[in-house]
Amino acid sequence: MNLGKVVVTGGAGFLGSQLVKRLIPVCDHIYIIDDLSTGNKDAIPDTDNITFYKESITNVKILEEILPKVDYIFHFACKNLILSVENIESDFETNLYGGYLLLQKARECCSELKRFVYASTTSIYGQVSILPTPESYYNINLPYAASKFSMEHYCHVYHKMFQFPVNILRFSNVYGPGQLSSNPYCGVVAKFFESAQNDKPMIIFGDGSQTRDFTFVEDAMDAIILAATCEKAIGQVYNVGTGVETSILDLAEEIKKASSDMNLPLSFEPKRKVDVVERRCINAEKIKIELDWKPRHSLEEGIKKTYSWLKGDESHQDIPRNN
Ligand SMILES: NC(=O)c1ccc[n+]([C@@H]2O[C@H](COP(=O)([O-])OP(=O)(O)OC[C@H]3O[C@@H](n4cnc5c(N)ncnc54)[C@H](O)[C@@H]3O)[C@@H](O)[C@H]2O)c1
Repeated sequence: MNLGKVVVTGGAGFLGSQLVKRLIPVCDHIYIIDDLSTGNKDAIPDTDNITFYKESITNVKILEEILPKVDYIFHFACKNLILSVENIESDFETNLYGGYLLLQKARECCSELKRFVYASTTSIYGQVSILPTPESYYNINLPYAASKFSMEHYCHVYHKMFQFPVNILRFSNVYGPGQLSSNPYCGVVAKFFESAQNDKPMIIFGDGSQTRDFTFVEDAMDAIILAATCEKAIGQVYNVGTGVETSILDLAEEIKKASSDMNLPLSFEPKRKVDVVERRCINAEKIKIELDWKPRHSLEEGIKKTYSWLKGDESHQDIPRNN
């Protein structure tokens, strides 16, 4: 497999940087566009076949410079869920307008684009009435869900009007090596491990009975590569998750087990504005059947691997940790 030249937006972020690492052996050149608003430049491997642009995806000149060179676009830049309620306009500007610009400029500049992979989110399901939740469901109640779902619609429009080779992956609570708690908006797994390592209580917003479907980062990467390389994925939307529902209290227990410290304390705080989802468990049958993807890690295995990365295990030497 050789994907030629690719661009990864948000390539200094958690998923983007792990994707870049997966892509290095199978690409001729990787361009990264990231404004480093939450990303970390150290997460990007230092090799000759990567060119990094500290720029916003809303910078049209940069898009016009890079896009004519690439065969694949992996669009991972975003303003996150928590930021979206603090600044709706900034969420709109990056997640919807920036995404739209990328589509528009790609259509103009990429004569032979093979794939536009868009990292969407199961946040578009909001508080659900169907579990496990299939791709057909939606319940939009936060700005982040609105902008991410709207961008999906533009991907469909570009596919239907211009035969643009889009693919949409809806990720669910991805965690694992590379997720840095130095990013204040990182996910709960990184936060819990940070607390455990610093002998501080793991903070739970609400009573901890809320559930999530946690996906190990290596499994998420498998899904991206499959979606980018399978012809039948073009124009499709896929959930990427395990179908296993885990409460935040149970997650805390897994972190205690992995850290071999069952006495780690918990601290309960009131829910935040973004804590509107009681249950999350997604139906990933479509990607399993159509692309033959399945998660290779149980939560226990993924948490163990994450812990060994945090502890400096040799197999994860190339993935930076918090300073
Ligand atoms: N991590 C998850 O659990 C998860 C779940 C569902 C969906 N996703 C999606 O996956 C993608 C990556 O998420 P992540 O967890 O790696 O987030 P992240 O915050 O770690 O990465 C996002 C990156 O985008 C960059 N960025 C923000 N605004 C930008 C702009 N205007 N121009 C260029 N770069 C910009 C940030 O600096 C950061 O490096 C996002 O699109 C997100 O919606 C992630």
